[in-house]
Amino acid sequence: MSNSKKIQRFSAPKGVPDYVPPASTEFLRVRNGFLHQAHVAGYEYIELPIFEETALFARGVGESTDVVSKEMYTFQDRGERSVTLRPEGTAGVMRAVIEHGLDRGQLPTKLMYAGPCFRYERPQAGRYRQLQQMGVESIGVDDPALDAEVVALADRCYKSVGLTGYRLEITSLGDSTCRPAYRQKLQEFLFALPLDEETRRRAEINPLRVLDDKRPEVQDMTADAPLMLDHLSPETQEHFETVTGLLDDMGVAYVINPRMVRGLDYYTKTCFEFVHDGLGAQSGIGGGGRYDGLMAQLGGQELSGIGFGLGIDRTLLALQAEQAETGGDTRRVDVFGVPMGSAAKRAMAGMINELRRNGVSSDMSYGDRGLKGAMKGADRAHARFALILGDRELDNGTVAVKDLAAQTQTDMDLAAVVPYLVRELSRELSEEG
Ligand code: HAM
Repeated sequence: MSNSKKIQRFSAPKGVPDYVPPASTEFLRVRNGFLHQAHVAGYEYIELPIFEETALFARGVGESTDVVSKEMYTFQDRGERSVTLRPEGTAGVMRAVIEHGLDRGQLPTKLMYAGPCFRYERPQAGRYRQLQQMGVESIGVDDPALDAEVVALADRCYKSVGLTGYRLEITSLGDSTCRPAYRQKLQEFLFALPLDEETRRRAEINPLRVLDDKRPEVQDMTADAPLMLDHLSPETQEHFETVTGLLDDMGVAYVINPRMVRGLDYYTKTCFEFVHDGLGAQSGIGGGGRYDGLMAQLGGQELSGIGFGLGIDRTLLALQAEQAETGGDTRRVDVFGVPMGSAAKRAMAGMINELRRNGVSSDMSYGDRGLKGAMKGADRAHARFALILGDRELDNGTVAVKDLAAQTQTDMDLAAVVPYLVRELSRELSEEG
């Protein structure tokens, strides 16, 4: 009889993806690529808490949304405060802007962020409980040119990582001057339909959501429903036309979707979504819009804002669907050191350190592996050069430099090797660029 205890093995929580090598390289490439595009457009980085006071999201995102009413990770901390893992980024950014007076200087305040958000949704392909977003918020100026900038930036983010098969849908949700009257009109239309109990209740709380109902019978019934786009005030109409005109000028392709419904309550005027058809049901790879009342609602000034959140998980799935991981450089390091024996290892450690000080990504084999095993390490790291150092080379004051692309090998003076590699790799880099 075995008396060995059964040891529990753990797995990641349900609906929470891990990104492990090599897929994690692609994750970083996409996230950093998005941040880079925003940086180039003048956005500054903001790093925010992953949990906030629950009331911030209830007030900011809206009590009637699924996100707040059904999906939040809310708990009491040990001080009996109700806190919530952030379900999205915008409310936290607004809180920080107000708290730190970031709205007191030159406007607009342009901020970018990236990180995990948490929603207790039913997990399925592309729908996770921990999801990763990169987002921007541009606060303090109600100018349609800013709307166009934000939409064009999102479009450029996707293009820059090699994604092509998506479409941009855009609409206007009106504002406080025209939405209440439209809402009433829509409710009158909906209440005249033979809707089931739950849909009727939805029509009372958030009638726009009924237009987004995917059931064919509801879609048929609402085919002639009044649309916000046909009931915009002259000002919001002009705002929308200016935004689409600017997108035309910039060559950003879009389709107008007057039935778009966003899952968060704070939107006004311009609203947009990026949709990828290679993803099945969870086709929204990113979205955003204007939220002109949000800041005041959270106790700040009456300032407008616009931003987006791009789903990194879904962008990765979309890239996979397109098999477009073109920019995916699989190289882990440029140079891999293969020392034979303890004296060589010491000399190699110095050389690798020197390469790293010069910005050359490099690694070496550890443990006592033979030449063949150590060279496998160089292969696995997809290195460009291997440096082989044994007793013979040490005695001669040289190192064997193996060019793993050309499969050639030359002996080189120990002192010459670091400058040679720095020069060679930066020359290749500038030729690629
Ligand atoms: P959102 O549309 O709720 O907007 O989320 C943005 C993106 O996050 C979605 O388009 C989707 O790609 C991704 N996403 C959302 N939920 C999940 C999930 N459960 N699993 C995987 N990916 C998901 C916002 O969050 C707003 N804060 C965007 C914004 C910023 N609006 C203005 N400023």
